[in-house]
Amino acid sequence: MALRKLVAGNWKMNGSQAALAELDAILAAADAHTTLDVAICPPFTLIAPAAARVPGLAIGAQDVHMAQKGAHTGCVSAAMLVEAGASLAIVGHSERRADNHETDAEVQAKASAAIAAGLTAILCVGETEAERDAGHALAVVAGQLDGSVPREGTGDTLVIAYEPVWAIGTGRTPSVADVAEMHAAIRAKLDQLLDDEGPKVRILYGGSVKPENAAELMAVAEVDGALVGGASLTAAQFVPIIAGAAAA
Ligand code: PGA
Repeated sequence: MALRKLVAGNWKMNGSQAALAELDAILAAADAHTTLDVAICPPFTLIAPAAARVPGLAIGAQDVHMAQKGAHTGCVSAAMLVEAGASLAIVGHSERRADNHETDAEVQAKASAAIAAGLTAILCVGETEAERDAGHALAVVAGQLDGSVPREGTGDTLVIAYEPVWAIGTGRTPSVADVAEMHAAIRAKLDQLLDDEGPKVRILYGGSVKPENAAELMAVAEVDGALVGGASLTAAQFVPIIAGAAAA
């Protein structure tokens, strides 16, 4: 089943009020390519001004807390993100799994909190280089999905992002054959975990997506879009990726 593609940008801890000017051209590209969805996930502090500047562009968060409110200093709830104008939230990014020691169970709780508040959760999975070299990539990702996919997820509320840790920010990408193998395995797992909704959940590829490789990666079977880090920071880089995905 061909799903509507999603190209999402993850600004990580980059950006500023001035950088929001990039969103004007990104919105124009999103409006020009009506066959796919486009989103930008800036830092928390830029969600509200981004949503105000480009109301027609989907704005997401890079993380969300699993609790609705309470004594969690420094954290942000799903309802707060909705109020700020977000419609998506990334959960389980490998940088948070590594830097903040987030477990699969915590990632699952975050995804559930996001969905309960009306956000679409973009749930990230992916193996390290050592795990791939040892031949464990498929098993590692299957285990992450078992442990972190919210079983209430649907095609509208859940997106999976396959991001091999060794491809993030390195300029390296897996072969097309390896991407195809992994995405097929993720699809089979989603079908198992989510029954009728499994085939409807989009599976993004992430890790060093650039204008040069976007069309090739987006044309791989079961690749339903991209999660883009560094190349989403400027319209000059991100707009050709949107175009590449639209052409794939
Ligand atoms: P990258 O990051 O595109 O800079 O490799 C992707 C990501 O971490 O989402």
